[in-house]
Amino acid sequence: MLISRRAALAAALASSGWLLAACNKPAPEAAAPAAPASAASVAAAPAPKVYTVGTDATYAPFEFQNEKGEIVGFDIDVMRAAAEKAGIQVQFVATPWEGAFNALAQGDRDALVSAITITDERKQTLDFSEPYFEAHQLIAVPEKSKVAKLDDLKKKKVGVQTSTTGEEVVVKLQGKTSDLIKRFESVPLALTELAAGGVDAVVADNGVVEAYVANNPNAKFKSVNDSSFAPEMYGIAVRKGNTELLQKINTGLAAIKADGTYQKIHDQYFKAGK
Ligand code: ARG
Repeated sequence: MLISRRAALAAALASSGWLLAACNKPAPEAAAPAAPASAASVAAAPAPKVYTVGTDATYAPFEFQNEKGEIVGFDIDVMRAAAEKAGIQVQFVATPWEGAFNALAQGDRDALVSAITITDERKQTLDFSEPYFEAHQLIAVPEKSKVAKLDDLKKKKVGVQTSTTGEEVVVKLQGKTSDLIKRFESVPLALTELAAGGVDAVVADNGVVEAYVANNPNAKFKSVNDSSFAPEMYGIAVRKGNTELLQKINTGLAAIKADGTYQKIHDQYFKAGK
């Protein structure tokens, strides 16, 4: 009894000690020896800010993780190139789509690049860069499906990524309360469900659907367009009122559009010349 109590106490002390040590561990910037007072002006030179850029890296070819787990894609290259022109440093952080806008609002991310469609609703809570890409919705169905237009999905089970413009389109078609709308955390999850027969179709951005259909021939999917699918423009999002960063991003975007860098990146990912 006594022994076990002692053991428990020792364990508690050890763990609290460990916790304390962990808490006291200096932040990396604080690890440098304190600058003498005379060097104050030198020490005051601000370290270059690294902007954290959130991205839901499940959206090939716009943002995804390669075999090495690195975040890559069209959006990443555009953002990186624009940042370079603007003279700012960026670091990409995998950020689930749901919660990304909150992470931005709360300051956990400085910007989001994630094939985000510029919408009036979103503009109320965040600011967008100038548009950098045009997209539209597209339907993915099994090759043998008879679905030929959006209206054919009226009474079908449709998979969408939660809180996307794809969801909006299907909500508009079936009504907000339709239990035929199946919401997924990511488009790949919705497409996996399509392959498994759990849904009859998936509605998502054209670039993602096209890439998936082309790169997964074994899934035997086809894409179906609809004339009602409106053009959507992608923008880079920053916190509302963060004009300083927004201006830098816009300057960078304008520079890569002007000098051909943007076109080069575009051609690398979308060879068909859209
Ligand atoms: N463009 C669509 C929207 O803004 C879908 C974007 C989803 N992006 C992503 N990386 N999962 O609603």
